Amino acid sequence: MLRVGLLGFGYWGPNLARALSQARNCRFVACCDPDPEHLNRALQQYPNLLGFSRCNDMWASVDAVIIATPISTHFELAAAALKHGKHVLVEKPLAHESALCQQLVELAERRRCTLMVGHTFIYSPPVIKAKDLIQSGSLGDLYYVSLSRVNLGLYQKDVDVVWDLAVHDISILLYWLGEMPIGGTSFGRCCVQRNKNDVAFVWLQFPSGVIASIEISWLSPQKMRRTTLIGSQRMIVYDDTEPTDKIKVYDRGVDLHEPQSFGEFQLTYRMGDMVAPYLSNAEPLLVEMSHFIECIDTGEEPDTSGAFGLKVVQVLEMVTQSTQSFPSSLTEFDQVAIHRGNGSMMP
Ligand SMILES: NC(=O)c1ccc[n+]([C@@H]2O[C@H](COP(=O)([O-])OP(=O)(O)OC[C@H]3O[C@@H](n4cnc5c(N)ncnc54)[C@H](O)[C@@H]3O)[C@@H](O)[C@H]2O)c1
Repeated sequence: MLRVGLLGFGYWGPNLARALSQARNCRFVACCDPDPEHLNRALQQYPNLLGFSRCNDMWASVDAVIIATPISTHFELAAAALKHGKHVLVEKPLAHESALCQQLVELAERRRCTLMVGHTFIYSPPVIKAKDLIQSGSLGDLYYVSLSRVNLGLYQKDVDVVWDLAVHDISILLYWLGEMPIGGTSFGRCCVQRNKNDVAFVWLQFPSGVIASIEISWLSPQKMRRTTLIGSQRMIVYDDTEPTDKIKVYDRGVDLHEPQSFGEFQLTYRMGDMVAPYLSNAEPLLVEMSHFIECIDTGEEPDTSGAFGLKVVQVLEMVTQSTQSFPSSLTEFDQVAIHRGNGSMMP
């Protein structure tokens, strides 16, 4: 039985704890959090756990760890765990700089440890179904993808909205398309706090010709998780807030016919059926956790390996470096700084 410990029992940690306690072939044995209130909450919920306030005291009690701490701490904690020969599942994103992600990937290889990143959506049935549809050619030539991920909060302390929310959409795009973008940029604005974008629009261009637009915001009255994929043959609307039928495939499009005479062109609009394909109701977090345990057992590379997590961070850096950021009010317009910085997520 693999002994697993959890680092961080804040907002997201309890969800991982629940999935961990349900997963097979492992035992949730320890939790570490320097915040006594958070640690006590974990120990009350799971009375058999060993509790620690410092990770160095936990290594001897576990074979693997799950890291659900603030992003700025991911590198230090993951590196320490790997140096102690522990398998690691780190929450997204892998670390706050691609150079640090690269170090973690190499360290995991040297120590022969599994390194996986918690890009949860890659384990979600609608995202997997959309990938099947893209790969099967059912959409035809994929033209563009438009993604919206907006809601009210949760404002993060150490990252802006791109590093908190767009990280999901970037991981989904890399998984669907299987290629790295050749170009990317973003516009953001600090509406509520100075120096931290709470809304941003990210644009990416891929070698296959696909273009993608990602809208992310912590400042929106309604929760929206809506993605549209437009192909030459079919179109998909994926709405993750729908209780059922999260994926709808539309047999719709526009066909351009060869001109019969000089100067003539003809467009026809196809208005075919809409189909909502069957989706399994597997819980993504449980699938992710079981995959982590299985990869440790078999030595196989996880679907969201350290190398995959590194690519996501490289794209985050690409769009962050080119972010044009606007201040909290237009009266401060003379203070506008067009950031062409070092790609760091830190405000
Ligand atoms: N996959 C998802 O959908 C999803 C959703 C939300 C958050 N997350 C990720 O989960 C991680 C945590 O986010 P959160 O919202 O729970 O943050 P949070 O601030 O609510 O909780 C972080 C916890 O980590 C603890 N902590 C800080 N330093 C620590 C250390 N050195 N060792 C052990 N514990 C430490 C804090 O005391 C706190 O309890 C982030 O990486 C975030 O990106 C993922």
